[in-house]
Amino acid sequence: MSTLQAPQAEALIDLDAFGANIAALAQCARSAALMTVVKANAYGHGMLPMARAARAAGTDWLGVATVDEALALRAAGDTGDLLCWLHAPGADFAAAVDAGVEVTASSAEQLAEILAAAPRRPRVQLKVDTGLSRNGALGEQWTALVAAAAAAQSAGQVEITGTWSHLACADEPAHPANDHQETVFRAAVDELAAAGVDPGLRHLSNSAATLSRPSAHFDLVRVGIAAYGIRPDPAMTYPTLLTPVMTLRARLAQVKTIPAGASVSYGQTWTAETATTVGLVPLGYGEGIAISASNRAEVQVAGARARLVGRVCMDQLVVDLGDRPAARGDEVVLLGPGHDGEPTAEDWAAASGTIAYEVVTRLGGRIVRTYKGGA
Ligand SMILES: Cc1ncc(COP(=O)(O)O)c(C=O)c1O
Repeated sequence: MSTLQAPQAEALIDLDAFGANIAALAQCARSAALMTVVKANAYGHGMLPMARAARAAGTDWLGVATVDEALALRAAGDTGDLLCWLHAPGADFAAAVDAGVEVTASSAEQLAEILAAAPRRPRVQLKVDTGLSRNGALGEQWTALVAAAAAAQSAGQVEITGTWSHLACADEPAHPANDHQETVFRAAVDELAAAGVDPGLRHLSNSAATLSRPSAHFDLVRVGIAAYGIRPDPAMTYPTLLTPVMTLRARLAQVKTIPAGASVSYGQTWTAETATTVGLVPLGYGEGIAISASNRAEVQVAGARARLVGRVCMDQLVVDLGDRPAARGDEVVLLGPGHDGEPTAEDWAAASGTIAYEVVTRLGGRIVRTYKGGA
């Protein structure tokens, strides 16, 4: 007979905190509408539950990168305003348009591909590259996209519903690139309007610009990381109160005392100077824990911090508990809001040489996501 056990490794998601973050960001956005970005499995938090919770919290739009993500939302019953923006050739535009998803065209060629596939008049947003040099039409490409959009609109083939771009340095509010990109964006919108195309919803801001740059809010802001309660950059300060939504926790799978001189894990990168108690945590790079966190990051066990020792493995990592009492099954908090002294995603980012976006987004593998709060 099996007994129900708590998950071996769990990401506990606080939907009330998520809802409160969205409400705070909507206030920050003032008259602009709010899009919550749930791409990449909602930054590791689980796309479908987060999408539902975002709608319940009043988000106007959901944003995802790919058509497949958008279709997964529709298959799960989402019927609200939904935009996707990153398309390799052959993306299923027919299904997207059929499902009422708004798609983004980043070039005249892509607009043609969308029009050729669409079973009926598609709702399309246009993306201009204002300096990120990533997705979006740049310079003459933008002029060509404007001409193609104007022609398709005149022929009744398309409804242009939005015009948008993405900032490179919004998490450095004083960076001159922000002003420059905003100026280029305004000029691009003017060029479109001069060609007789209503730009529709104009949008440029991610979380950082939503929090720090009202001049870039335009008609809609697209928030990702801040909705999950994480600062776009730890150096950023702003009055909006955000609470990290995810707590990653596990239970010690084994506890043992090792003698002075014993080394831990592959490559023997850490050796105990004195006899010490070590705890085995059943999470590894198979779950998205970075090897670069080895010997650096900390967890919390029984209210106190314990450092990772030895190299993070595929399924497991080891923490040094010193002379503290500990037992198999004790809870280990790897990251959380930080309110009770536990490390945060930002702490893990600092310890492993990355950004908090990556820390949470890469979490997966055998982690069980559970949800508390929400409607
Ligand atoms: C096009 C676009 N808009 C908005 C966002 C949200 O950015 P952030 O998580 O910094 O708010 C992203 C995420 O990278 C994005 O790719």
